[in-house]
Amino acid sequence: MKECVLVTGGAGYIGTHTAVELIAAGYDVVVVDNLSNSERAAVDGVREITGAEIPFEQVDCDDKAALAGVFDKYKFNSVIHFAASKAVGESVEKPLLYYRNNILSLVNVLELMREKGVRNIVFSSSCTVYGQPEVLPVTEQTPRQPATSPYGNTKQICEDILRDTAAAYGELYGIALRYFNPIGAHPSALIGELPKGVPGNLVPFITQTAAGIRPCLSIFGDDYDTPDGSAVRDYIDVVDLARAHVVAVDRMVGGKSRSNYEFFNVGTGRGRSVIELVETFEKVTGVEVPHKIVGRRAGDIEKIWADTTFANRELGWKATRPIEETLASAWAWEKHLRGMK
Ligand code: NAD
Ligand code: WQD
Repeated sequence: MKECVLVTGGAGYIGTHTAVELIAAGYDVVVVDNLSNSERAAVDGVREITGAEIPFEQVDCDDKAALAGVFDKYKFNSVIHFAASKAVGESVEKPLLYYRNNILSLVNVLELMREKGVRNIVFSSSCTVYGQPEVLPVTEQTPRQPATSPYGNTKQICEDILRDTAAAYGELYGIALRYFNPIGAHPSALIGELPKGVPGNLVPFITQTAAGIRPCLSIFGDDYDTPDGSAVRDYIDVVDLARAHVVAVDRMVGGKSRSNYEFFNVGTGRGRSVIELVETFEKVTGVEVPHKIVGRRAGDIEKIWADTTFANRELGWKATRPIEETLASAWAWEKHLRGMK
């Protein structure tokens, strides 16, 4: 019998790509999403790519009774918990929304897993837990820094909730994946990122500027202590990231976890600057991205990239998609969204 995975937040950017990779790996998938930051059509994209029947339940994970109905209706042994609010700036303005949504949804999922006998969970964490590290690249042993936003704090709190819960109940296994900066889209251009309003993240802003929707990209700072002065991040292709979830589920399902709670860096191991990314995008697509240098963005860190040795060895996973392909896929998705050739 095929194993089934419940994917919360499965209509979102990373959730849709992960659903595709789970199905390719032979899992069945049930998607739960409240559509607060996504559209039902995204799940149709997954259906089109995979040709699979994918049950979709429009349920809010904060509503435990409704979520219990999903646990009763379907039989699954693993959950990938993506459902969360993720805008750093908004979390500063509306901290309670973030604490309620991100923390309550995880607590509900964990309580239901215990009540219904579901064993395995993958949690979406973030490199934001490292803040600005003193030593680069960051390993999983690099200390976490006090969070600089309510959003970042929810990731730290949720990691701790998962750690403590897994420690207390021996039958429960959890893996937190600390994503670096996910970018790009599925090669089919049928699913991708759907930013609402003006994008805060770099790559959607680049693609919208290339499409003529935004007149000019602002590069936030060229006076950092980096090779070209612009900030450095570890940009991870969303399909590579999605595959990391599959191997995390495989690990727990296959009884390969070394302890009840584990956490891994999910990045490429290579830092790239903002200017480098813009120039690579222009080279790959042949489309100019009008840009100007402006001041630093408040709260930004200067540079971070992952040491992926532990994830590579323990998970047998490695990011493989070349940055050129990733940026081309982001552009193909933007053109698909805008009906451009
Ligand atoms: P996304 O907004 O595209 O996907 C999240 C999905 O969860 C959305 O479809 C949204 O409608 C849904 N959702 C939110 N609250 C919900 C709730 N209470 N009940 C049910 N559904 C709910 O975001 P994403 O980029 O795919 O991120 C997925 C996860 O990865 C999030 O936990 C996010 O914090 C984390 N993460 C994202 C990034 C990134 O840069 N994209 C980086 C690190 C970590
Ligand atoms: C990348 C770089 C910007 C837009 C955020 C969250 C983090 C994580 C991922 C979830 C930075 C620069 C950006 C623009 C620019 N999410 N930039 N012009 O800041 O690394 O991380 O998203 O956990 O928590 O903080 O990603 O894509 O916003 O920025 O110059 O218009 O691009 O200053 O150096 P960031 P980003």
